[in-house]
Amino acid sequence: MRKNVVAGNWKMNKNLSDGIALAKELDAELAAKDVKCDVVIGVPFIHLASVAAEVDTTKLGVSAQNCAAEASGAYTGEVSAEMIKSTGAGYVILGHSERREYYGENSEILNKKVALALENGLTPIYCCGEALEIRESGTQNEYVINQLKDTVFKLSEEDFKKIIIAYEPIWAIGTGKTATAEQAQEMHKALREAIAEAYSAEIADNTSILYGGSCKPSNAKELFANPDVDGGLIGGASLTSADFMGIVTAF
Ligand code: PGA
Repeated sequence: MRKNVVAGNWKMNKNLSDGIALAKELDAELAAKDVKCDVVIGVPFIHLASVAAEVDTTKLGVSAQNCAAEASGAYTGEVSAEMIKSTGAGYVILGHSERREYYGENSEILNKKVALALENGLTPIYCCGEALEIRESGTQNEYVINQLKDTVFKLSEEDFKKIIIAYEPIWAIGTGKTATAEQAQEMHKALREAIAEAYSAEIADNTSILYGGSCKPSNAKELFANPDVDGGLIGGASLTSADFMGIVTAF
């Protein structure tokens, strides 16, 4: 059966000492509590090694927020999947709408990144989601399923089984406007059906599909209560241990 996962995405927030302090607080909370989901924090590249060294990564997974589309070489400023893995991190968030929108990441680039992440033993948390105008036109299911068809549905069965999907409607990210529990469930169900069609009912049943977009302690329980919502990818509310733990303990 699939896992429930709550993953934080710190984005470009926290200097090194603040980041380590937050990671240590979460590590201590998780050591003391029996939680019913896998917990991951997505930290800036530059903090990965320091944070991974300070926490029990079997209880608090550490994730990068991106990786290079090339394995190694003359790519000034880039960080490879292999480098990420060597820090002790186990996950990488790929295809976040901010990367797609501000850094021009398209399916071709993302396919290379997903392949490199998998080759290096990282678990991709692969993001998809529609903009407001698509939602308003009523074509959101088709749009998001096509995002997956162009990318992760090209993976072999063995590789697809290793990824986590995060559905993040762009209109809900950082806006305070959350998808309703019904909207989230409807999309997650459609995605699971598309996975069943692309692979098999068994693989669909075993794939964790997270919801992201203004998820907070006050709405996490209602969102996670849906049969096809297996957790969350959390931005703003992952920046304090009180908020993040409020979401982690919503299961
Ligand atoms: P938010 O961000 O929780 O601040 O809306 C979610 C995300 O972008 O991953």
